[in-house]
Amino acid sequence: MAETNSPFNQQLPTVRRAFRRTDDFTPSTPKVKLVTEPLPEFTPLSVLIKVHAVSLNYRDANICNGDNPWPVTDKGIPCNDAAGEVIKTGTHVSLLAAGDRVAPINDTANLTNRETTRSWLAADEDGVLAEYIVFDERTVTKLPEHLPWVEAAVLPCAGVTAWSALKGAGLGSSVLIQGTGGVAMFALKLAGAAGLKVILSSSSDDKLRQVGEKFPGILGVNYRTNPEWHEEVLKITDGKGVDLVLEVGGAGTLVKSIKATRRGGVVSQVGYLSKQDPRDLEELFEVLIDRRVVLRGINCGSKQDQDDLCAAVSANKMRFDDIIDSVEPFEKAEEMIEYIWQGKQVGKVVLTL
Ligand SMILES: NC(=O)c1ccc[n+]([C@@H]2O[C@H](COP(=O)([O-])OP(=O)(O)OC[C@H]3O[C@@H](n4cnc5c(N)ncnc54)[C@H](OP(=O)(O)O)[C@@H]3O)[C@@H](O)[C@H]2O)c1
Repeated sequence: MAETNSPFNQQLPTVRRAFRRTDDFTPSTPKVKLVTEPLPEFTPLSVLIKVHAVSLNYRDANICNGDNPWPVTDKGIPCNDAAGEVIKTGTHVSLLAAGDRVAPINDTANLTNRETTRSWLAADEDGVLAEYIVFDERTVTKLPEHLPWVEAAVLPCAGVTAWSALKGAGLGSSVLIQGTGGVAMFALKLAGAAGLKVILSSSSDDKLRQVGEKFPGILGVNYRTNPEWHEEVLKITDGKGVDLVLEVGGAGTLVKSIKATRRGGVVSQVGYLSKQDPRDLEELFEVLIDRRVVLRGINCGSKQDQDDLCAAVSANKMRFDDIIDSVEPFEKAEEMIEYIWQGKQVGKVVLTL
């Protein structure tokens, strides 16, 4: 182990408790298992982070249930959203110090958005659902000082994704945000801070009502009871369409999303939660060309994006307590992953340690 700079040398841990995936995809069997294991390798550029909060994402439930299309390491540690405190730094660490409040970035190979490789937490490498985590200092950003741990933990995935998806939407423009999940709720917060007009779509009037009570002024569209929801979006925008759509449905919703976008607007493709039937895309090229829409793939963001988001959140002293669905102890990971898998949440589910 490399020499360390730490005021905490006396109490530094050598082992950690972590949840690892069982990779048993049979329904109703446990999807994660609590283990005690040695800490990962520590290099001169490493920082050891004591984790205080981990926020769960749809992706975690998806990977734990074997439904993720990208390769993942065997029985890896899930989750990519952690907030914690640096408790030890390697000898060559220069960007961070013990006591810093930090979060690792989601793709540790994406520092500038120009890299050609990727290394996703909880897929290509272990995730963050553990008491202690070790990262190269270059893959970690400082968190806004004013945010409690629970709220800070929603920044790296939902936050950076929403930030990337809304990029370019200027003051006064209109956005359609799909769903009431974590990314959507974070986008709602950013849109509010940026002065955007928001239309929110959901499968549930009850969820729309709940969100509407917290965020007066947003307009709701129910995509389940109104399969022609794009017509409603057009009606609300005087037939023009919104400037930007945050798209989470994929094949089942994309064509309608483009129809709901103004000519020359942007569709940010973030997810593909609907049934992926290629027949739903038959009109794609016709509609894309007709509406001159920019279809933009979103893959969370870079270290630079995470730094930029944190700077914006700090500058505005933004809080995220109003988009937290529930806070539970670390030990309830299994139960809460299932809760997400069943889509019961409105906003973010966070585990605390
Ligand atoms: N590309 C990236 O970098 C990135 C990063 C994070 C997440 N994602 C993806 O983004 C999506 C959302 O992630 P999340 O963590 O926010 O998930 P989440 O918290 O589970 O929320 C998902 C919500 O999406 C809505 N939804 C589901 N099917 C829909 C459909 N056909 N049309 C419109 N809305 C629909 C639902 O809202 P209602 O219940 O209100 O209907 C659901 O609650 C997932 O596909 C996830 O994999 C992508």
